[in-house]
Amino acid sequence: MNREEAILRELNLHPLWKARGRPDVVHVQAAPAAGVVVVSQPMQTAEVAVAEAAVPVSERSREQLIGGLGWAELKAQVHDCSACKLRAGCTQTVFGVGDEQADWLFVGEGPGADEDARGEPFVGQAGKLLDNMLLAIKLKRGSNTYIANIVKCRPPGNRTPEQDEIAACLPYLQRQIALIQPKVIVALGKTAASALLQTGDTALASLRGKVHDYQGIPLIITYHPAYLLRAPLEKAKTWQDLCLAVQTIDV
Ligand code: URA
Repeated sequence: MNREEAILRELNLHPLWKARGRPDVVHVQAAPAAGVVVVSQPMQTAEVAVAEAAVPVSERSREQLIGGLGWAELKAQVHDCSACKLRAGCTQTVFGVGDEQADWLFVGEGPGADEDARGEPFVGQAGKLLDNMLLAIKLKRGSNTYIANIVKCRPPGNRTPEQDEIAACLPYLQRQIALIQPKVIVALGKTAASALLQTGDTALASLRGKVHDYQGIPLIITYHPAYLLRAPLEKAKTWQDLCLAVQTIDV
């Protein structure tokens, strides 16, 4: 058995099958940055003013500031951030890792204990599975891939980040996306999907298997690797989602 087959076997995906046909493309409106209103028709000046007035000035100016940062300043801002209560309970911020001009962006939920200790996303058991998922589609951490999370600080006890924490942290990821300009985004799990696409409480099972749209960038939603460790039979669906992402980027 060669190396690729061994990786696929580890993912319960051997023997290999390939998805046929064109991706099933649907368009789901991406979550706009707070204060930014995405519309299909140009808005009248008065409408823009009303939309902007709905967002507090302090939030608007913080987002505008973050939206203008380069990599070095953005890293410094995240490092020094105390915009929500998560920072007080974690060891360090976890910015993201990889190729800053990557075609592929993988987005998880938030750091766990291992990531909090190491300062890098997906370095624990779930991270090992993510690395194997990458290898299965001929990718490697750090090479043409970038890995980031919705929140940069570990939630206590690995709980799901709360809405105010997501809202405070999302401008950092939005800026990372704008700087990277990936060709495809893979959202790992429901928290990443709902933060990026405002899909609310929609079940992941009904979000996966389609190409969504995040501000013009194709976005694929699949299961979180930590969930796959608990539900290994779902790995086959994740393989389908990764194949869809490969097809999407190859078009
Ligand atoms: N789970 C995540 O969502 N992100 C990490 O970085 C690690 C585990």
